[in-house]
Amino acid sequence: MRIVLMGMPGVGKGTQAVRLRDALQVLHVSTGDILREAIQAGSPLGKRVREFLDSGSLVPDDLMAELITERLSRSDATRGFILDGFPRTAEQVSILDRVLETLTVKLDVVFLLSASEEEIVSRLSGRRICPGCGEVYHVDNRPSGSAGVCDQCGSALVQRPDDTRSVILDRLKVYKNQTLPVVEAYRERGLLQEIDGSGDPSTIFERLRTAVGQS
Ligand code: AP5
Ligand code: MG
Repeated sequence: MRIVLMGMPGVGKGTQAVRLRDALQVLHVSTGDILREAIQAGSPLGKRVREFLDSGSLVPDDLMAELITERLSRSDATRGFILDGFPRTAEQVSILDRVLETLTVKLDVVFLLSASEEEIVSRLSGRRICPGCGEVYHVDNRPSGSAGVCDQCGSALVQRPDDTRSVILDRLKVYKNQTLPVVEAYRERGLLQEIDGSGDPSTIFERLRTAVGQS
């Protein structure tokens, strides 16, 4: 299956994408994770994009076009994929259309996860991530066994630089201005399915699984 998973920052795209990936045995492509890995590695791409991520603004479309074209052209994408965080602008919808056309494949469905803005801010402010293995925690909803330490690899957990209150509010504005048109574009194409993203992660995953079965 080829799925786009959309929703406001912090709605739980990454949390659900990992579960869907395991259930469907497809590739999970998080553009945010790829960009953060490039920053951590100090690569030329990382140096070009750091400021955008730290401030919560979007990386320019031409850079994203290169990144997604390269990633989806690799052989591991042929078994299907979940796109988490792409496309995020109207131009990126066209970029994805071109890539899919070249690969002679089509999207099956676009899921839109939703939750209240209050819930989003609480999920993002409490998020902690492991710089070692990428595991994602939440201080209240998904705490690690030993405070501040990753259960998987023992690294010290950190907060994402864009998870401060002021950057969270900027990211929500960017979502409304630049990404809502993407939602509307897919709604017009009849590909959009809205999924209630409130409640605990397992309940949300069951909603997604049911919707996958019907797509
Ligand atoms: P990206 O990494 O994609 O960030 P985002 O869209 O802001 O979304 P998040 O990753 O913050 O949240 P999520 O929805 O994955 O939630 P999660 O599952 O972690 O992008 C970051 C930046 O990269 C962008 O700002 C931009 O600069 C750049 N970028 C990326 N893609 C780009 C593109 N296409 N074009 C241009 N620039 C791009 O959950 C959040 C927290 O809540 C966690 O702590 C989790 O444990 C907790 N949680 C999850 N589900 C639940 C639940 N049901 N109940 C309670 N807590 C929950
Ligand atoms: Mg994410």
